[in-house]
Amino acid sequence: MTSFPSKGRLLYEGKAKRIYATDNSDELLVEYKNSLTAFNALKKDTLEGKGELNNKISSCLFKYLADNGVENHWVRQVDDIHQVVRSMTIIPVEVIVRNIATGSLVKRLGVQDGLKLAFPLVEYCYKSDELGDPLIIHDHAVLFGWADDEQLNQIKAICLEVNRLLANLFDRLGIILVDFKLEFGLDSRGRLMLADEVSPDTCRFWDKETMAKLDKDRFRQDLGDVLGAYREIWARLQRHFGI
Ligand code: TMP
Ligand code: ASP
Repeated sequence: MTSFPSKGRLLYEGKAKRIYATDNSDELLVEYKNSLTAFNALKKDTLEGKGELNNKISSCLFKYLADNGVENHWVRQVDDIHQVVRSMTIIPVEVIVRNIATGSLVKRLGVQDGLKLAFPLVEYCYKSDELGDPLIIHDHAVLFGWADDEQLNQIKAICLEVNRLLANLFDRLGIILVDFKLEFGLDSRGRLMLADEVSPDTCRFWDKETMAKLDKDRFRQDLGDVLGAYREIWARLQRHFGI
């Protein structure tokens, strides 16, 4: 932990985070909230301690990715629920990487739930709560100016590298990385970088032995003990990294 930066104007409030200005124009302060939403916020709840766990898990994973060559917006964790990140213009394309078919892929295409994919599937969605983040293809993003061809190729390459690194890490923790969602941004110099968060809110984790779900699906599917699952992810990361 380090010194707390000035908490300036609230710039943005999302479903799981608040973003504040700081006195450094290149940095923002992110506050992780305890609110939990699913199905485009049709289902909502508040879980005391969720923000803290996601802040810690996300900080740990962003640091791990940076240490392994994946530049990202995370700068430092400042306390239990806050982290400092580089200021970015977010590209309105959410990228989903899947190793196992489940969730919306199964709903959309009727393929077998739990099917191990022969190679990681990278999907793009247009980031729009109003439209429910619809699935798009590469050319939609280029045509409508959400990202250019080169940026999308770079994004796909980073997603595959993140998948390789995270799948390897979680495998060592006894966890299968089923799928996850990433977001990207451009910094003040136009450099493309991984942004947003990497947490049990945005990933699917299955225990290798028991196949228990250790992520937000416990909330989406009313499986109970949501916080216990998030705690388990954090405990295994702490043990692994000695933190
Ligand atoms: P999906 O199967 O519902 O499309 O979800 C794929 C992955 O993306 C899963 O790990 C959860 C994550 N995700 C988000 O982080 N935010 C979202 O809004 C959605 C729909 C999924
Ligand atoms: N994050 C989205 C929502 O709040 C959907 C989801 O993760 O299931 O509504």
